[in-house]
Amino acid sequence: MPKKPWNGRFSEKTDKIVEDFTSSIDIDKRLYPYDIEGSIAHCRMLAKASIISEEDASSLIEGLGKIKREIDQKNFQFDNSLEDIHMHVETKLVQLAGKAAQKLHTARSRNDQVALDVRMYLRAETINTIKRLVMLKKVIVDLAKNHIDVVLPGYTHLQRAQPVLLSHHLMAYYEMFSRDTDRFRDCLERINVMPLGSAALAGTTYPIDRDYTAKLLDFPKVSANSIDAVSDRDFIIEFLSAASICMVHFSRMSEEFVLWSSSEFGFIELPDSFATGSSIMPQKKNPDVPELVRGKTGRVFGDLMAILTIMKSLPLAYNRDMQEDKAALFGTVDILKDCIEIYIKMIPKLIINQEAMRQAASTGFLNATDMADYLVTRGMPFRQAHSCVGQAVGYALSKKMELHELTLEELKSFSSLINKDIFDVLTTEEMINRRKSTGGTATENVMAAIKKAEKELDEDMKG
Ligand code: ARG
Repeated sequence: MPKKPWNGRFSEKTDKIVEDFTSSIDIDKRLYPYDIEGSIAHCRMLAKASIISEEDASSLIEGLGKIKREIDQKNFQFDNSLEDIHMHVETKLVQLAGKAAQKLHTARSRNDQVALDVRMYLRAETINTIKRLVMLKKVIVDLAKNHIDVVLPGYTHLQRAQPVLLSHHLMAYYEMFSRDTDRFRDCLERINVMPLGSAALAGTTYPIDRDYTAKLLDFPKVSANSIDAVSDRDFIIEFLSAASICMVHFSRMSEEFVLWSSSEFGFIELPDSFATGSSIMPQKKNPDVPELVRGKTGRVFGDLMAILTIMKSLPLAYNRDMQEDKAALFGTVDILKDCIEIYIKMIPKLIINQEAMRQAASTGFLNATDMADYLVTRGMPFRQAHSCVGQAVGYALSKKMELHELTLEELKSFSSLINKDIFDVLTTEEMINRRKSTGGTATENVMAAIKKAEKELDEDMKG
């Protein structure tokens, strides 16, 4: 059993229960590629600054490469007594490179090392998240484009309100996921700061070159304050906040998929390959995928709450509480990845029941606002028009008819401003296509929005 790095000061062995309790290796082993890359850069910098010899640096770098391959090939033994990924790599390096390996930790502490590893990991994962979101936006735009003319009722209070294009409804999600993409890009700015060289908390007495380490690891900036650098987890909080907002969008979309695929709505059918059956009711086709996306949202919010709570009362600088950040972060990274990927595959396969949507959009007085607008364009103040149409709706309800099913005479009895051209205004097509205000549901607007989105996606895919 290798000795603890702190064995000089201690006279008793660490209790096994303490080793198990304090170990984080099961969770933080996924940081190994970054830990090793960071150590290689640190080594190069130490040699360049003549803090260690070139010869020692080469043997360390060779050993680190070997460790990476062993872990890649699952040939590496993990052990709770070695606490975390940093101690595992260093201990193995001592076995491989002997005395030289004991120099690797010069001018460095695990406090700045773990901050570096997590930043490198999260930088890669944020870039992956952005790429996945771009793919998701693409499948949403494609679905909208392929169903440009499909009409469905738009809802407020989950009551039918006004007809909208399904493509317009889908493009609302495009907007949400675009904001999410921007938020992740913004996070990247603050993740991309190099903390190594802050050492335990106060910096180091060695003549290190932090800019050189940053250059090797492709960081545009080095952290400005060593105390902040080892105690800052804002970048994780920001990522989890952006992920939580993104999951709100996923959850709302999922809720609609669940509702829309019910017999009550019947607007969509999920592909068989993305639905599940019941173990008891043979007729069931259940929307488990959207339900689970909606459910996993709760876990992401939990991860955000966990990190906020972990950090809220910590005195500066590093405290071991911060080791708990990784379970929350990794949990959310995994959930977000799974949710984006499954929807990239599922959305193109959704079966759109265009007839059911149109049918639903044609009843329930969805043209009442348009009738009021008609009266307003003929000189009636809006409030008066609202009340006049309200009376017409009451009358139509009593006859179990829609407004456009009443005769011209019946309609005229509510206002002499009504003429036979009212019937054009009350059709679904007219209702949609007259809503040309910027951001409205008119077909030409939605087509322009899709075109703009396609241009943005082209740019996104290049970048
Ligand atoms: N495993 C630790 C963590 O994730 C690494 C830093 C440990 N530093 C220390 N001083 N014990 O936070």
